[in-house]
Amino acid sequence: MKTQVVIIGAGPSGLLLGQLLEQQGINTIVLERQTREHVQSRIRAGILEQGTVDLLRQANVGQRMDREGIPHDGFYLAFDNRQVRIDLKKYGNGKSVMVYGQTEVTKDLMAARDASDATSFYEVDDVQLFDTKSDSPYVTFTQSGESMKVECDYIAGCDGFHGVSRKSIPADSLTEYERVYPVGWLGVLSDTPPVSEELIYATHERGFALCSMRSHTRSRYYIQVPLTDNVEDWSDERFWEELKTRLPQSASDNLVTGPSIEKSIAPLRSFVVEPMQYGRLFLVGDAAHIVPPTGAKGLNLAAGDVGTLHELMKEVYHNGRTELIDRYSETCLKRVWKAEHFSWWMTSLLHKLDEDAIMTKLRQAELEYYTSSQAGLSVIAENYVGLPRHSLES
Ligand code: APR
Ligand code: PHB
Repeated sequence: MKTQVVIIGAGPSGLLLGQLLEQQGINTIVLERQTREHVQSRIRAGILEQGTVDLLRQANVGQRMDREGIPHDGFYLAFDNRQVRIDLKKYGNGKSVMVYGQTEVTKDLMAARDASDATSFYEVDDVQLFDTKSDSPYVTFTQSGESMKVECDYIAGCDGFHGVSRKSIPADSLTEYERVYPVGWLGVLSDTPPVSEELIYATHERGFALCSMRSHTRSRYYIQVPLTDNVEDWSDERFWEELKTRLPQSASDNLVTGPSIEKSIAPLRSFVVEPMQYGRLFLVGDAAHIVPPTGAKGLNLAAGDVGTLHELMKEVYHNGRTELIDRYSETCLKRVWKAEHFSWWMTSLLHKLDEDAIMTKLRQAELEYYTSSQAGLSVIAENYVGLPRHSLES
């Protein structure tokens, strides 16, 4: 088989890139290890920055998002038994965010690809990348025991943190930066009305808590737990009790509890690989970087990479601008590092991480300061709504 761009991974990065490239008449083949059903059932975050919303609309997959997504102009920081509203519109240059689950984004993208004549292979094994430094790279894989080969011009490694793409680059050509945090997020999904119309990020002496949502009838809550905890340690009753304790009374009084329909613990990690490319292989999204979820940046960073790679491929295929290829990594990394910093900062500000008495006091002072200063509110809002993508040309 032959195609122009092989896309490894059918997560949001791979599917959105595929959609945008096909729209430009650039042929793609998507290779995914899991089944469609598995990919569509993964519960992930749910906050889309304006730039991500715009890109989904541009890819012509924004119709259901525009009907069912909930625009949010603000969120709350809760501490000291009170809530401070961060007015995103006012302090974030007029921008806001959209509450629409990544699971839904993935379903919309998959439906759009399946309705087109673009080729996708699901349930593939043993994906291997060859000759990525040459002008004619290729990818091999197996499906139901049959070996296949795809020749291509470029490879997009959209296969997440544990994927094969990053690992196929010689270790001495990469630098990895990593911090693993000593806590995890215990998440619960429930068919109960959200406790608040806007998200609440809370910090308490017992640790962090987040009240989010998927719709007006479905809530998503998280609490910080020790990494050593297991889901089995947390009955629904224990979870609700702990969440209530960590929220200000104004919120906990309104909390409607109910049976969990999903419960899981996710580790917190900051990770970046440099550079995000090797020859004709580009790393996109979680394959290249991970953020702790506190700033809701994971999916949005992935969409940023996709936007940049899509622009790049357009210039290469339509205008012959192959000299831009080397600019992919540094263009993406400028934005990636700023989002990494914001995610790390929000995490440090709101979590209790092995801290001594003075750190607790300093963290309280930092919260007081940022939430009472116009400059502080702007820093939070500007980063939360998302920083602009950099241009390939600058
Ligand atoms: N071969 C083929 N597919 C693979 C392989 C492999 N060797 N390894 C992983 N994959 C697939 C996974 O099954 C998954 O469907 O690649 C896909 C990667 O998807 P995600 O992990 O969702 O990563 P990405 O598309 O970059 O999504 C952005 O940002 O912070 C996060 O939660 C956010 O998951 C979201 C991500
Ligand atoms: C979510 O709704 O799952 C969510 C929202 C905001 C975050 C992280 C996760 O910062």
